[in-house]
Amino acid sequence: MSGRIPRQFIDDLLVRIDIVDLIDSRVPLKKSGSNFTARCPFHTEKTPSFSVNRSRQIYHCFGCGASGNAIGFLMEFNHLGFVEAVEDLAAFAGVDVPRELVDSGTAGADRKNVSHVYDVLAGVAVFYAEQLRANAEGRRAVEYLKTRGVSGEVARDFLLGYAPDKWDALVARFGREELIEAGMLVVKEDGKAYDRFRGRLMFPIRDKRKRVVGFGGRVLDDSLPKYLNSPETAVFSKSKELYGLYELLERNSKPERILVVEGYMDVIALAQFGISNAVAALGTATSKTQIDLLFRFTSELVFCFDGDNAGRQAAWKAAEAALPCLRDGRQIKIMLLPQGHDPDSLLRMENLSPFMERIRSAQVLSDYFFENIAGVLDLTTVEGRSQLLATAKPALEKVPAGFFREMMFARLQELTSTRVVVDVAENQTRLKSKFNSGKSTQSPRVSLTRKVIALLLQHPHLASLVERQGVRLDELSFAGIELLRDILRLIALEKPENSAILLEAYRGSSQEKAVKALVSLELGVPAGGEEAEFCGALQQLCKQAKEAMLNRLIEKEGREGLIFEEKEVLRKLLRDKT
Ligand code: UTP
Ligand code: MN
Repeated sequence: MSGRIPRQFIDDLLVRIDIVDLIDSRVPLKKSGSNFTARCPFHTEKTPSFSVNRSRQIYHCFGCGASGNAIGFLMEFNHLGFVEAVEDLAAFAGVDVPRELVDSGTAGADRKNVSHVYDVLAGVAVFYAEQLRANAEGRRAVEYLKTRGVSGEVARDFLLGYAPDKWDALVARFGREELIEAGMLVVKEDGKAYDRFRGRLMFPIRDKRKRVVGFGGRVLDDSLPKYLNSPETAVFSKSKELYGLYELLERNSKPERILVVEGYMDVIALAQFGISNAVAALGTATSKTQIDLLFRFTSELVFCFDGDNAGRQAAWKAAEAALPCLRDGRQIKIMLLPQGHDPDSLLRMENLSPFMERIRSAQVLSDYFFENIAGVLDLTTVEGRSQLLATAKPALEKVPAGFFREMMFARLQELTSTRVVVDVAENQTRLKSKFNSGKSTQSPRVSLTRKVIALLLQHPHLASLVERQGVRLDELSFAGIELLRDILRLIALEKPENSAILLEAYRGSSQEKAVKALVSLELGVPAGGEEAEFCGALQQLCKQAKEAMLNRLIEKEGREGLIFEEKEVLRKLLRDKT
């Protein structure tokens, strides 16, 4: 079935179901105060920090920071895409998912139909594979594979192929427009187009749903460039796909660990030796998106790098990039190979079991992180320790709240023997007070803006108070006001019955993260006290904003004078003050 799922249906669904029942059917919940709790299904823990809130219809884990509404829960818990999660939720509610008819003029425009691009890519992959057996030219590629120890079976599993050394092998067989959209042709300035891949061994890149989305192509000799890759297209993004992921999932959908290597040939060679849990980034550094994607299927990633300088640098970059992805229950290890070797060459030299041993003894990211920084520093000196602090702290601040982060900071503190000031305001959105400094159960200080927005997200009916309080937000400016206005607009428009619907409206937007954090922020406001708290905070916020604006205008008047409109505002502000 195609066509969009109507927004209204999704909102209704989020009202119809109860997130407590939904989660309870998968993770048994216990009532605790006004919430329901359990041990978090998204990370390993002994005491429950996962809680589900019935009135807001959201879940939140104080330990690892996971949070969301019922749709988000199904996506995370069952590794589903958005549409799949909505379908499952509808099934849970016992209703069918309606689809809007796609009108090519309007609704369809933003979701361009790309099925013909997938079709042509699938056709091309089969054509290339056939070429391996088609004639003498193709058999050269087979010979090459043999010299590299690749069997026919592995070649078949990976759908390897050969692109004939012609300018028009594809143009003669497939539609020109489709080929261009698929990135298979190079279009010249005069509009003429020719095959991008010629005389190369071809590695089809498949997405996790088995669809061919692009290719890598290797020369059969030492000529340059060694590899060519498909350009970015409507269906292919180098920073999102991973070579070998489909083939890996095909064999094992829940591997204990996944190996992340650098090259196409490394994935192939590993598979040849029976190690079928390896993937490769596509000639670029592994992105956060790719790491998050991999963690949907496993809890441990092992990054393999060459032991040379470039490899070491790449390893450090990968480690830094991986820090923000490290929630509790996720493990990353770094494996540096001997100088000049990649997994392919090393396996051939030393065979399987030493290599397996290397995988097992790969260094955990935390050790690697501190060793790599501290290795070049003298920690017996104050300079060395402050250098360590200066390098490590900004990197560690990217680690999401949780046990892992606490450990890393504790270790940094130990190594530097100084107190590291952790930005409490940033953390407390996810951290339970037990992780914080003391026994106090009071929430740490929250900025007024955050408080106002959080209260609004958690109790959408408070929106009506803004006008009743006589607050004119259009006259003010302060950090966060855009989001505040946006939420008020949304509430006026959608009249959401719970926070889950508001959260849903921000899915995929640049504000999603902020909204998610605020919707589950513990404010410590007693039940029934929300209105008073909201009005108080709002008044205070306005007062501060006006004060700031007044000071700015007075300062500007002294410096360069004011234009007419500014004078008007200043006059009004001064009048209000008295
Ligand atoms: P390698 O040179 O390590 O490739 O580059 P490899 O896979 O080990 O290939 P062999 O063993 O020499 O046959 C690692 C990756 O970098 C990208 C490719 O994705 C390659 O697999 N790369 C490399 C390119 O995109 N273009 C190039 O010219 C070279
Ligand atoms: Mn290689």
